[in-house]
Amino acid sequence: MPRYADSDKEKLREAVDIVDLISKRTELRRSGPGQYKGLCPFHEERSPSFSVDAHKGVYHCFGCGVGGDAFKFVQETEGLDFIGAMESLAQRVGIELTVEDEDPRAAEKRKARERLLELLERATGFYERYLWESQEAAPARAYLVDRGFTEETLRTFRVGYAPSAWDKLLMAGRAGGYGNREIFDAGLAVKSNRGQGRIYDRFRRRIMFPLADARGRVLGFGARALGADQKPKYLNSNDGEIFHKGEIVYGAHLARSAAARADEVIATEGYMDVLALHQAGIVNVVCIMGTSLTERQVGELAKLGKTVLLALDADSAGQEAMLKAAKVAARSKLALRVVPLPVGLDPADVVQQRGVEAAAEFFQHSVPFVRFQVDRELERGDLTDAEGKDKVIAALRPVFATLPPSALREELVDVVTAGVALDRAKVSSWLSMPVEEEDAPAAAPAAVQQSAPPQRQPYGGGRNGGGGGWQPRRSFEPDVGPARRKGSQVAQAERAFLAQCVVTPSLARDLLPKLDKATFSSEFMGRLATHLEGNLEEPTANIDEGDDLLRNAVSGLIADSAGLTNSPTVLRRELALVELKRLERDHRAAIAASDGNAAGLRVKVDAAKQRWEELVSQSLEEAA
Ligand code: GTP
Ligand code: MN
Repeated sequence: MPRYADSDKEKLREAVDIVDLISKRTELRRSGPGQYKGLCPFHEERSPSFSVDAHKGVYHCFGCGVGGDAFKFVQETEGLDFIGAMESLAQRVGIELTVEDEDPRAAEKRKARERLLELLERATGFYERYLWESQEAAPARAYLVDRGFTEETLRTFRVGYAPSAWDKLLMAGRAGGYGNREIFDAGLAVKSNRGQGRIYDRFRRRIMFPLADARGRVLGFGARALGADQKPKYLNSNDGEIFHKGEIVYGAHLARSAAARADEVIATEGYMDVLALHQAGIVNVVCIMGTSLTERQVGELAKLGKTVLLALDADSAGQEAMLKAAKVAARSKLALRVVPLPVGLDPADVVQQRGVEAAAEFFQHSVPFVRFQVDRELERGDLTDAEGKDKVIAALRPVFATLPPSALREELVDVVTAGVALDRAKVSSWLSMPVEEEDAPAAAPAAVQQSAPPQRQPYGGGRNGGGGGWQPRRSFEPDVGPARRKGSQVAQAERAFLAQCVVTPSLARDLLPKLDKATFSSEFMGRLATHLEGNLEEPTANIDEGDDLLRNAVSGLIADSAGLTNSPTVLRRELALVELKRLERDHRAAIAASDGNAAGLRVKVDAAKQRWEELVSQSLEEAA
């Protein structure tokens, strides 16, 4: 990974017009000098709560709490890391980046890698041309048309054709100046058994699906057999220098912006599903290339949207994949939903046989992952006798244990009650009551009592579902940093003070260091204040790459400060209010604990209140 000079970062920051950049994703209107507003490109909304500050070069959404600078914006909307965002912006504004302190070996490796990527890019072009221009590919073209794909769709996904000869790509690669070794390392060739380093084309007589990373750079291929005699049906590039199958979800670069807008991505099994849905106008779709889902892939899905709709085949492999996805998702903030598909039909079939409305219907009827689990256990269980019912209930106990009391849980209890045809009250208590040894329901069936008391998962108080996919749709709150949560008056006072610091840096420079950070109501606010103290000139500087919480909070402050003016009196007033709130809290706590400090604190509260009121009138006078 190259390291670019810090000066490049600043050069880019200067050169990039953030309003221009963001306008490509959402329409912005000027709302004041250097201020722009629009609909947030990161969440669905009807009235604009997304603002851009052209002078400071930052954006912020009051609705969902996201914010940052141009780099962050490119990272988020294009799914890139910081280096990738720098490269993308540099390309856009035509600045050449200088690689810093790269040791010669690293430089060599990077160049070798770039050459392989270029080779893969050329191979993609080669296969594309072959599909559209060669006589040999006529059956492939016919097949694809027969499958219902338009030329436009095929070109969008850069579908190609690998000729049946042994060495067409090899020859083209060599003619382009690449060595055998490179062609092999790019995953385009296989070694001949006859040895002597002889190689031949890996892909022959196949329809080629380029597999790209989040930026659309081709890393490898998935290749579909054309004839029934060819095995396997799909052949992938082998994992090597560039290609790692487990890291890719197919179509991510094309799905990205639609998925970001909907904050939702549809995960299917196969390439054909992706192409078919995309062609039908459902664009936030990717595939996991089969059913052996990896943890990395779940990570890639999570980058695309908070909600993942699993639209996998209803067969058992598909179901296993869903359970696996759920396990991985339980550790992230993904909300998993399952799209019930008719047995034997994949999404491509649904669109093509029943039309896009029907497909959309299916997606709209996605169910929380827990619902899927409940249905699955009921289906698999033997409900003809008491023992079978007990088993089903036992299997569902851990599922229910992760569900907070909610309408969804009640609904699911109903589903199970109907399924096992038993008394609802009983089912409900067996399923949802935490098993305390003493008061386990006396009538509980043996199987239930035996099952270990499920680990109660900490439930994240409504924040993004905490760690599972069970929440009813859209019930999660957007992930807003503590500073963005409207919350208490206390937090509001603290925010107002810090926002005022941003526009009154000269006095803030004196005040902040003297202020005991424990004055703030939360550790995070204290941290925010400390950050600001060190970075008053440029609040967005020196934020750690992964520290989204701080970044969002800072951009929130900057957005808040947009309407404020530099006034030492106002800053003092805001600080006085923060201190007053702190004392009031201490006072209340002292009363509650009935310790001896209450009286002393009462005096302090009164003094603080007086000071604050004085500053209020003083600031009013100044404003007049
Ligand atoms: P069609 O059968 O042409 O409709 O394609 P499909 O995409 O629907 O294929 P299928 O449902 O059989 O498989 C789903 C996905 O699993 C495929 O798109 C591939 O990504 C992957 N896959 C299927 N078979 C193989 C295989 O033999 N090898 C590998 N590596 N992947 C496969
Ligand atoms: Mn399929």
